[in-house]
Amino acid sequence: MTTPSPFYLDCDTGIDDALALAYLLASPFADVVGVGTVSGNVSAAAGARNTLDLLALAGSTDVPVALGAHDPLFGSFGGGAPWVHGENGIGGVQLTTAAASVASESAAEMLVRLARRYPGTLKVLAIGPLTNIAEALRLEPSLPSLVHSVTVMGGAALAPGNITPVAEANIFNDPEAAALVLAADWDVTLVPLDVTMNSVLEETHRQQLLASSSLVAQVLGEMLGYYFRFYEDIYGRPCSAMHDPLAAALAVGAVTAAVAPVVRAAVDTSDGPGRGQTICDLRGLYAGYPSVKGARCRVVLSLEEDFAPHLVETLLTPVVEPVETEPVDTTAAVASAAAVA
Ligand code: BDR
Ligand code: CA
Repeated sequence: MTTPSPFYLDCDTGIDDALALAYLLASPFADVVGVGTVSGNVSAAAGARNTLDLLALAGSTDVPVALGAHDPLFGSFGGGAPWVHGENGIGGVQLTTAAASVASESAAEMLVRLARRYPGTLKVLAIGPLTNIAEALRLEPSLPSLVHSVTVMGGAALAPGNITPVAEANIFNDPEAAALVLAADWDVTLVPLDVTMNSVLEETHRQQLLASSSLVAQVLGEMLGYYFRFYEDIYGRPCSAMHDPLAAALAVGAVTAAVAPVVRAAVDTSDGPGRGQTICDLRGLYAGYPSVKGARCRVVLSLEEDFAPHLVETLLTPVVEPVETEPVDTTAAVASAAAVA
């Protein structure tokens, strides 16, 4: 029997964030115990609205959602990416507004609380700018020893960036926070554009989602129609990269990395053209990546298998809730046994 790991998800919901959330809810390896939002694809508040509505659609109203940072550590929120994710962040799809509202704690406070509640087992998955995670490190300096693992969708190791020639969106939107997270006393798995741009969801996969009887799969299929239009200019056909759900699948351990060296990594926080670049020391490539003292960043560069079929299969598999068994009343059996004796 699979024991799911507790997950804290930090996101900027976002179409691919929505897919990652749905994937985690559907995975038998994950138990989402809290979600925090941050400004990125949309404002933190709009991301929280999307998250609450998606959770309600999925029947997961017990998952608390905390509002996180609106602005990065320095400067202010740049207004999101409506040309990629739509004005509302979910491709213009209108979801029923959930009755639930955000928690009274901030996202950083939620992460710290959950880390204390699940010491050594909480898995942190960050698929937006890293402001909340940096803030949580400030609130609780021993956070690295409390959590089980940290997986970050972000950066570009050898691949070009998607915001500047060298910077990927999540890191570019708060480089100072990303620098703090990569420098903290924990091992981080970085899932950069090098691998996510090579994990592509095709129109046939989208049609499978649309044809499903699952409402969640159907709305994801609708959202992807918008996302595909952005990526059509890049790939030359209607399809999309799978950034955030791939990071989710790697975090739960459902897909296997082929090349994922553990290296030293830093973030450029200068004001020059390199701002937001993840500088991963991949020079060990020529020597088969020998272990390097002080290296703590596992950079996923390629996968063993094609990710899209696993993603679609997971999203289409009905979630089996643990069976609630009635407590067995042994009183009657004991009494009749005594009467026989
Ligand atoms: C990342 O940026 C956001 O637009 C996506 O949701 C993903 O987390 C890709 O660069
Ligand atoms: Ca995201």
